[in-house]
Amino acid sequence: MTAKTRIVLSSDHAAIGTRQAIAAHITALGYEAVDIGPVTPESTPYPKHGAEAAERVASGDCALGIILCGTGQGIMMAANKVKGVRCGVCSDTFSARMIRAHNDANMLALGVRVLGEGLALDIVDAFLSAEFEGGRHATRVDMIKAMEA
Ligand code: RB5
Repeated sequence: MTAKTRIVLSSDHAAIGTRQAIAAHITALGYEAVDIGPVTPESTPYPKHGAEAAERVASGDCALGIILCGTGQGIMMAANKVKGVRCGVCSDTFSARMIRAHNDANMLALGVRVLGEGLALDIVDAFLSAEFEGGRHATRVDMIKAMEA
């Protein structure tokens, strides 16, 4: 992805601080961070925030999305209900690279109760640095897309 790519960020209450750190990090790298909150610490349900971020990606408003909750799992499940979204939870940099390279993921989910902030930022870097390889992987991603039709 090139600089100035628009990247939507969202989370539930568990992950506000890490989400804001990621927004600052990717802004410093030259990306356009579209942080849609929340900003206050009250408990707020991850499905709402996963879906809102996913809609930004599905509509084309943002090229990629990064979403967070305690485990990353719940918000990933919600995001993947939105047509056109392919979101994976990653706790390591290899997976983050591969979900872009092989699965053409357009969203990354992170669990703040699983990861430290330093590793979360490294995972974000791995995700953003990778490119979809196409070829035989495109055929497989097309099979996923066909399931949504
Ligand atoms: C909130 O306590 C927690 O359930 C949520 O952040 C997430 O881990 C769900 O998958």
